[in-house]
Amino acid sequence: MIRNYDKLIFELSKEGREGYSLPKNEFKGLYCPCALPANLKCSSAPLLPQVTEFDVVRHYTNLSNKNFGVDTGFYPLGSCTMKYNPRINEEICSLPAFTSLHPETPVQASQGALEVYYNLAASLAEISGLSAFTLNPYAGAHGELTGLMIMRSYHEQRGDHKRTKVIVPDSAHGTNPASAAVCGLQIVEVKSTANGTVDVEDLKPLLDDTVAGIMMTNPNTLGIFETEIPEIAHLVHEAGGLLYYDGANLNAVLGKCRPGDMGFDIMHINLHKTFSTPHGGGGPGDGPVGVRAGLEHLLPNPQVKKDDSGRFFIDTDEHSAGYVSNFLGNFGVLMRAYTYILTLGRENVKMVGPLAVLNANYVKESLKGEYLLPIEGVCKHEFVFDGLVDKSTGVTTLDIAKRLLDYGYHAPTIYFPLLFHQSIMIEPTETESKETLDEFIAVMKTVAREAIENPDVVKNAPYSTPVRRLDETTAARSPKTTYKQLVAE
Ligand SMILES: Cc1ncc(COP(=O)(O)O)c(C=O)c1O
Repeated sequence: MIRNYDKLIFELSKEGREGYSLPKNEFKGLYCPCALPANLKCSSAPLLPQVTEFDVVRHYTNLSNKNFGVDTGFYPLGSCTMKYNPRINEEICSLPAFTSLHPETPVQASQGALEVYYNLAASLAEISGLSAFTLNPYAGAHGELTGLMIMRSYHEQRGDHKRTKVIVPDSAHGTNPASAAVCGLQIVEVKSTANGTVDVEDLKPLLDDTVAGIMMTNPNTLGIFETEIPEIAHLVHEAGGLLYYDGANLNAVLGKCRPGDMGFDIMHINLHKTFSTPHGGGGPGDGPVGVRAGLEHLLPNPQVKKDDSGRFFIDTDEHSAGYVSNFLGNFGVLMRAYTYILTLGRENVKMVGPLAVLNANYVKESLKGEYLLPIEGVCKHEFVFDGLVDKSTGVTTLDIAKRLLDYGYHAPTIYFPLLFHQSIMIEPTETESKETLDEFIAVMKTVAREAIENPDVVKNAPYSTPVRRLDETTAARSPKTTYKQLVAE
């Protein structure tokens, strides 16, 4: 029989088949202090698949081959970009001295891990021009919530209880308004100008004594540097609010400028977007949060500090905005980011921003003849096309994204930001070579040509994937998560 691995074969269980034999119970009949009480014991064998080791290994290997990741190919997913995950990061974070450390280990016996935490927080503070960092939040969006909790606590501890509004630009990532809502803040939208930056004239009338602060992403989700920040910082501070910096796009300005120097009070960093940590399947991640001098006491508990003799200890502050995690963040993720910073060193960290900007502009300028560039000019780390220049064929952004799969590329981010109807958001990242970018540019041009010469080929793509076009709305709203359910139908 020819086995077709393009079809996912899930039901492999065969009565009586075994992949592993448990060691004999040497304690049988003997007194065992850890014996389970009878009421906790299972009365029947668990319903596990009965498979050989070969079955299991082949099943998962074949499944993994259907996955696409940064280790498989180019992944130009703007805004949520997956990046280079250096192997040395994995080696360092797998050192048994760290992996076997229990979170409850007393500080005397976990000085090394606390030193890593302390040094990484200090490095991020230096890189971003802020005073202190917590590494406790588990993701970028969790960092946003933490930062907004700090913002709220700042106003409340000063008795300024009416500051319950937060201003969010219309170009913001969806997590910004979502985090503000979770924090109990009211969202007020500020519009963008035709150039894609925050409209200062639209902002001015929104600023009053009910505003807790503004959230800004810089460069913003269009990949454009917000040039009016000095004026915005002045206006918001004058109105009594604080400035929050969504640092998801920090890689674009690394080595060139720092949020703290721009006048921001609070920020988060997505370690996966700038410091090479993996972020597959939504996590685990880490979203460190930094504050300017004068706000350190509001950082979440617990906090890692160093005493005069150079020893590290864990502290709590009664004025803290609260607890946001059980322990001290996702330590394995922190180890990877710290390794990356040390691997690059001060000199090479400064190259990250310029290379991210160079790569993005190279791809943008190479493709703007075929793809519609709504905002001209130099972008930062990413840019947005509004579909194809030639709209007469009816080929949409979704069609282009699907056709790219046939050519072995992960699709760019599509239909975000919402400012354009056919958004295609591309971030090549700072770590890709010119050869990789040239191959991608050639394929994008091929797809644009196909759209004109044979639009149906693009409209019906993909052809090479295990499943063709999904009903994505139903797949998201009513996912079928077990194969048995499928079989039953
Ligand atoms: C601008 C922006 N803000 C916030 C987030 C949310 O970050 P995370 O996915 O780490 O929660 C992202 C996603 O990467 C983003 O691009």
